[in-house]
Amino acid sequence: MRKKVTIVGAGNVGATTAHWIAAKELADTVLIDVVEGVPQGKGLDLLEAMPIEKRDSHILGSNDYGDTAGSDIVVITAGLPRKPGMSRDDLLHTNYKIMSDVVNKVVAASPDAILIIVSNPLDAMAQAAYKLSKFNRERVIGMAGVLDSARFRTFIAEELKVSVENVTAFVLGGHGDTMVPLPRYSTVAGIPITELMDKATIDRLVQRTRDGGAEIVKYLKTGSAYYAPSAAATEMVEAILKDKKKILPCAAYLQGEYGIDGLFVGVPCKLGGRGLEQIVEIKLTAEESKALQGSAAAVKELCAVIGV
Ligand code: NAI
Ligand code: 2OP
Repeated sequence: MRKKVTIVGAGNVGATTAHWIAAKELADTVLIDVVEGVPQGKGLDLLEAMPIEKRDSHILGSNDYGDTAGSDIVVITAGLPRKPGMSRDDLLHTNYKIMSDVVNKVVAASPDAILIIVSNPLDAMAQAAYKLSKFNRERVIGMAGVLDSARFRTFIAEELKVSVENVTAFVLGGHGDTMVPLPRYSTVAGIPITELMDKATIDRLVQRTRDGGAEIVKYLKTGSAYYAPSAAATEMVEAILKDKKKILPCAAYLQGEYGIDGLFVGVPCKLGGRGLEQIVEIKLTAEESKALQGSAAAVKELCAVIGV
């Protein structure tokens, strides 16, 4: 039976996620938005690209959650994006209202779905979706670490003039200024980057990774990044649909792991057919651990504001 993925929010990230999923022939897609006509128009346009791409992916745009019924995965991108001068946290109240509206409808239509949350501020929105849906933690996962790590990998590859295929990197913590890139666990062909670059260079790349979202917002002026974010969400969708057991940095609801309890924070996760199948606990130095705890505290503050 064909897999079904719903994407809520037919804006930049949502529509581009539909594009990647269709182009990779991962599933049939339903694109949902509150704005009438936009999901229908983008969905039909994308569907009409399939004969050229030779892909039998079906895409339907709709304003009706009835069309999303029985989805295997629902990717939630609905919400306002950042504008210049705004932090992700400035979106908190508006996007929480949107998340409440969306999650209730998604759960009613697809009670067995796995939710991938993208809307910002990411960790607080994932926590909100987890609480609102009442799903178990295996079925609510936040997308941020794959994106932040991809940015770090890009900067490492450019700096060392090596193939991006050689570079792996890990960024943990919340998706914000307190995120925790881990140079010790970032490698080029298996060699830790700490062996290949001096500290000043690594610090510069780490800072650019932390500012990666703001760098794009500054260029775009009217919105935030969407090609890399949608590719990141698609990697998570693929890992789940194909039961790949892939280790990716994702926001997960921690229950004591890394000394954090009852909070979504970015950590290494194994994604497979059941969603979040394992949280991988790696050894952190005292400094890394302090940074992760600091990042978790920032997430906790935001969650407290909206009471989730
Ligand atoms: P966008 O403005 O292009 O699209 C958002 C869409 O959500 C709009 O089409 C809007 O009509 C729709 N929407 C609003 N309320 C809705 C509702 N109640 N139900 C259904 N649809 C609704 O924004 P973009 O660039 O696609 O970003 C979407 C969200 O993703 C933002 O919150 C942004 O900050 C976040 N984001 C998160 C990233 C991450 O790493 N976690 C990366 C990039 C974006
Ligand atoms: C990003 O990191 C806006 O969170 C989004 O690009």
